[in-house]
Amino acid sequence: MNLFTEYLGLSLKNPFIPGASPLGHDVHTIRHLEDCGAAAIVLPSLFEEQIALEKQAREFHVEAHTEGFAEATTHLPTVDDFDKSSDEYLRLIEDAKQAVDIPVIASLNGITPGGWIDHARLLQQAGADALELNYYDLPSDPDETGYDVELRALEMVRAVRGEVEIPLAVKLSPFFSSLRNFAKQLVAEGANGLVLFNRFYQPDIDIEELDVRPTLELSTPSELRLRLRWLAILSSRLETSFAATGGVHWAADAVRAIMAGATVVQMVSCLLRFGPEHLKGVIAEFTTWLETHEYESVSQLRGAMNLRNSPDPTGFERSNYLRILQGWRV
Ligand SMILES: Cc1cc2nc3c(=O)[nH]c(=O)nc-3n(C[C@H](O)[C@H](O)[C@H](O)COP(=O)(O)O)c2cc1C
Repeated sequence: MNLFTEYLGLSLKNPFIPGASPLGHDVHTIRHLEDCGAAAIVLPSLFEEQIALEKQAREFHVEAHTEGFAEATTHLPTVDDFDKSSDEYLRLIEDAKQAVDIPVIASLNGITPGGWIDHARLLQQAGADALELNYYDLPSDPDETGYDVELRALEMVRAVRGEVEIPLAVKLSPFFSSLRNFAKQLVAEGANGLVLFNRFYQPDIDIEELDVRPTLELSTPSELRLRLRWLAILSSRLETSFAATGGVHWAADAVRAIMAGATVVQMVSCLLRFGPEHLKGVIAEFTTWLETHEYESVSQLRGAMNLRNSPDPTGFERSNYLRILQGWRV
């Protein structure tokens, strides 16, 4: 079975990639994931806040974790909140490149087009095969319009694109008012692919303590459906790579995502829950599914839904919505 796929211009042996997470935190696990069949690995993110904190610490000649410094930046995490310093992150890229044959994709995570973006070049110099830029943003400024938010994101992509020559993927949230237009603009700015979608980790409220409680729940496959919709809508008209992230747990989820237009699938929650060996089983089951259904390749599967001739998504959504609501009988 031909599982080959091309993502961001990288030739991959199959469409399965462990997404940005602690799975890429150490070389031992990265090697294990390669042994289990991973076609590439996305490293955990290096965050804008972390780079800013390190810079401040250098400039003020203080240890970033000293009390005074932490107090001055209470709205920010401290350097100690991050697993690795930015120098250690560069070493991780170098070590991973030595240890495995699969492409190593670095991840930068931030929301403002500032000086921290210089770091993209360092990630490239350390040997990253591609860069994933995670735009994890919750706009809340009453004076910032939706258009302003998009311009800020586009400016960031332009700035990062200006720093590196390696392929660039942009990881997005689904909360843009006109995603098709925005996606087109991201590609025009030089994004080689889109990663759909970020999950927001909404904090909960502790009703006894009257406090906000950060929560991290791993995903479930039902979260994939939002991705399927947008993969279908975007991939039918936009020539670029697409990665599905969010809810890919089983072989059937990967089949759905690729049918909807994904070039690759990224997996995190299921690998954290079941361990890297889970990937082996998913790839084997995916291969068997393709064989049983007489597909010859992943690219044949990707075209299977014939989305180019699909109806206008807005009209399709409205009529589907009406049909579903009207179909409910009491
Ligand atoms: C513990 C944990 C850490 C994560 N760290 C990052 C990160 O550093 N950067 C990033 O872009 N996404 C990060 N993610 C998000 C994942 O890459 C992925 O997009 C998300 O979990 C949805 O995929 P899933 O349903 O396969 O888990 C993290 C997710 C988890 C669960």
